[in-house]
Order: sequence, then C-alpha cells, then structure tokens
Amino acid sequence: MSSTPLIGSETDVTPAVLGAMAAAPDARLRAVMESAVRHLHAFLLETRPSEEEFEAALRWIAALGHHTDEANNEVVLAADVLGASTLIDLINNDGMQGETMSALLGPFYRGAAPECANGESIARSPTPGAQLHFSGRVTDVDGRPIAGAKLDVWQASPAGFYENQDPEQADFNLRGVFHTDKDGRFAFRSVRPAGYPVPTGGPVGALLRAQRRRPMRPAHIHFIVSAKGYKTLVTQIFCDEPAALADDVVFGAKQQIAADFVPHHAASARHPGMEPPFFTCEYDFVLKPGPSTYPVPPISGKRS
Ligand SMILES: [Fe+2]
Repeated sequence: MSSTPLIGSETDVTPAVLGAMAAAPDARLRAVMESAVRHLHAFLLETRPSEEEFEAALRWIAALGHHTDEANNEVVLAADVLGASTLIDLINNDGMQGETMSALLGPFYRGAAPECANGESIARSPTPGAQLHFSGRVTDVDGRPIAGAKLDVWQASPAGFYENQDPEQADFNLRGVFHTDKDGRFAFRSVRPAGYPVPTGGPVGALLRAQRRRPMRPAHIHFIVSAKGYKTLVTQIFCDEPAALADDVVFGAKQQIAADFVPHHAASARHPGMEPPFFTCEYDFVLKPGPSTYPVPPISGKRS
C-alpha cells in the first residue's frame, strides 16, 4: 500500500509524484526524473495552460513521432531548433584543452557511408555547384599527427537537400568515410555547400512559422572525427557570411569552426582535375584524450 496522500489541491501534485518515484534504485534516473518533474510542474504552474492548450501541446509532441521515419527525424530537429542540442553539446564539450570545437550532430547523419580513399570525391551523382577540395590533418592537442583517424563526412547539396531527402541524388551522395595517412593527413573532393532550410513540413515547421523564425542553416559540412584513445569529435565546418552564421535556426554556428573556403578562378597544377572556378579549404582537426564513442544515427535510410 502506498502512503502517498490523496490529492486535494494543485500544491499536492508535485510532492505526490516525487514520492511515487522515490524508490527508483538507479540513482541517476531518480535524480534526473525528480528534477524533470519539479521543473515541469513549475512550468505548468507558471504558464497555467488551458485544457485546449495542453491538448494541442500533446498533439504537437505526438506529431514529432508521426513525422519521424527512416529518412527524417523530427524529434532531433525539435531538440535542435529549441537550442537543447547545442546546450547538450556545450555541456559536454568545452574546447578548453585546445581541441577543435564541436557542434550538434543534427538530424541527417545516416551512418554506414561508403569507405573512400583519400582524394576521392563524395559526389556520387551529378551534383550542381562549384567543386571543392577539402584537406587537412588530424592531430592531438600537442600537434602530433594521429594516423588512422576516421573522418565521417556528410553535407547537403547546393540545392539545399541531403541525399536522404532528395530522390534526384544517388544513395549516399555527399557522404563518405576517410582515414588519415601516417602523417595524419586526409583529403576529399566535393562541392561547396550552400545554406539550406531545415524541413518545415512537420510540427517543427509549424512552430517556426508561428514564431516568425527563418528556418535557415548557414552553409556547412558535418564531420565525426574519431580515433582510439581520443574523445570523438562531432562538429561542423562553416563557410558562410557572418550574418548567415548569426542566423542559424539550430544555434550551431561557432566562430572557431568557421573556415576559409578559398576561391580559385584558374586551373591549378596543385589541384589536378578541379574545374575552375573551384574552392579549396584546409582545416586541421585536434582531438583530446577521451573515450572513442560513436553517435547513433538519427536516420538510417533514404526517402524513396
Ligand atoms: Fe547540416
């Protein structure tokens, strides 16, 4: 028999729920859920939603699930546009040991991208846009090269879509996995990314419209850089104007990970096969010691 008293007024609810959860044997679960309930109840008591507003809020949350499938993750998108993903990123990655700044994973990481040789292109079907040569090194915080580091790369096409959203693009277009050589070097070819709108056909889009928010992300390329014994780096390298960086709907752009994308207006012997005008970017990633974990992909497939 529970000793929880019967509810008599709104002030009775929070202690009753906390009491009901107090016997959870997992201390972390107990602490997190106690805090969540305290904040949730305080939020409801502060905003005092009507019954219609509460029903609408529950429908919005349910719609996040209904709009999530193998090619779209509306739940991750909601966490992103509410700033939760960037806050989690900053709580867990402060950049204070000289490592490259991280950025949110986003909803479009598929995993299982094809393994590529250094220098290969990740454009797997005709992709409009200026060619890009991206290269650099992966080092530790003391500048020593990390050989065999894995770089998982993905980006949207200049048309503004990831391949999983776009039937015009080949499977795994603009996605690939590379490994550094003995000197920690890597290189790949692609197209210069462009800014794009996040998907607006679901409940997140409805919220953005109601808030008069632009759904845009500045141009960027996603990276997961990992090596045994080093904290896995999830980040994005940005190539856009300052105004676009400051107008990121998911609050992911950081100055430390904005890079120079250098235009070339003539053919170059250093970059054979690149058709002018093309761009080059050199960027070095720095990993700090830590666990070599790997994120679970928010999506797994391509919209047919
Ligand atoms: Fe992205």
